[in-house]
Amino acid sequence: MAINVTLIPGDGIGPEVVESAVLAIEAAGARLEWQRAAAGAGAVTTHGTPIPAETLESIRRNKLALKGPLATPIGEGFRSVNVALRKEFDLYANVRPARSFAGVDTRYSNIDLVVIRENTQGMYSGVEHFVDEERSAAESISIITRKGSERVVEYAFNFAKTRGRRKVTLVHKANILKATSGLFLEAGRSVAAKHPEIQFGEIIVDNCAMQLVKNPQQFDVLVTTNLFGDILSDLTSGLIGGLGLTAGANIGKDAAIFEAVHGTAPDIAGKGIANPTAVMLAGVQLLEHIGERTAADRLVTAIREAIASKEALTGDLGGSATTRMFTQSVLKRLK
Ligand SMILES: NC(=O)c1ccc[n+]([C@@H]2O[C@H](COP(=O)([O-])OP(=O)(O)OC[C@H]3O[C@@H](n4cnc5c(N)ncnc54)[C@H](O)[C@@H]3O)[C@@H](O)[C@H]2O)c1
Repeated sequence: MAINVTLIPGDGIGPEVVESAVLAIEAAGARLEWQRAAAGAGAVTTHGTPIPAETLESIRRNKLALKGPLATPIGEGFRSVNVALRKEFDLYANVRPARSFAGVDTRYSNIDLVVIRENTQGMYSGVEHFVDEERSAAESISIITRKGSERVVEYAFNFAKTRGRRKVTLVHKANILKATSGLFLEAGRSVAAKHPEIQFGEIIVDNCAMQLVKNPQQFDVLVTTNLFGDILSDLTSGLIGGLGLTAGANIGKDAAIFEAVHGTAPDIAGKGIANPTAVMLAGVQLLEHIGERTAADRLVTAIREAIASKEALTGDLGGSATTRMFTQSVLKRLK
């Protein structure tokens, strides 16, 4: 029986790369039934709201979604729909792997690490305002709970165990943010004590950023709070060749939403030249999540072989191929 998945094409390059991903996921042999739904800036025009009720209902019903990037106005306008979806469905763990690709020239060739970001709390709790009408000052409240910290660190250890990984490093800033980051660290240490078979490390976020650039191979699984994870996972994307190559799974107890790490790329939207790899890899994460192991393996192998062949690389990887040409290069490997 086919599994129902909510499909949100999104804004900017979203519809272009999501269409490619759907073709590749289907060619890999997965039996999925796509239920299209609107969200983001486009939905404001078509539905009068960035998150239509029927989109929330569709995700609630299916418990699974593949999502293109959504535009969020900078410094004004509606709040981030991504943040709202993560909160609505309590998608507390954001899993962002970064593994080197043969065929992509980067500083390092053997990176294989995963950033697991707490996805519902911290600086993205949404408690933020200007202190006066003149907007002369603003304040933001970072909320961290012991339960929220423990469950994401627990997720990181279980992830490490089930994927044969050896080490979890907790990234924090508890020297300065003694209460919030301090609580995350304290909770993380208590969870680590229950998993002695996995190595545990701690590192302050600024040093972590430097170490990731100088010696990324020392890391395996990184677990951290929302804002640090958001920034560090773009850094780890850059290490393997850029945002066109990195996917992220947003995992909760009852639902999961899979997406690219990248945004709507307004500079290249509508030109048909975006790299669809990140959303295709989000499709791989979705297939793994629902136990479609064979289709997931076939798809990731086809993507990696297409990139390694360099026959149709998109502009972000130094080539001149269109989204469609790269997609064809993946599809022919799935025949
Ligand atoms: N998950 C999401 O929906 C999500 C994530 C990040 C940003 N955003 C939104 O996206 C919008 C634009 O943000 P931004 O410009 O800071 O980041 P961005 O990720 O959209 O773009 C950053 C750079 O990477 C390039 N890039 C991104 N994806 C690419 C791809 N698939 N192929 C080739 N090149 C690619 C872009 O061309 C651009 O030069 C904002 O509204 C932001 O809020 C959404």
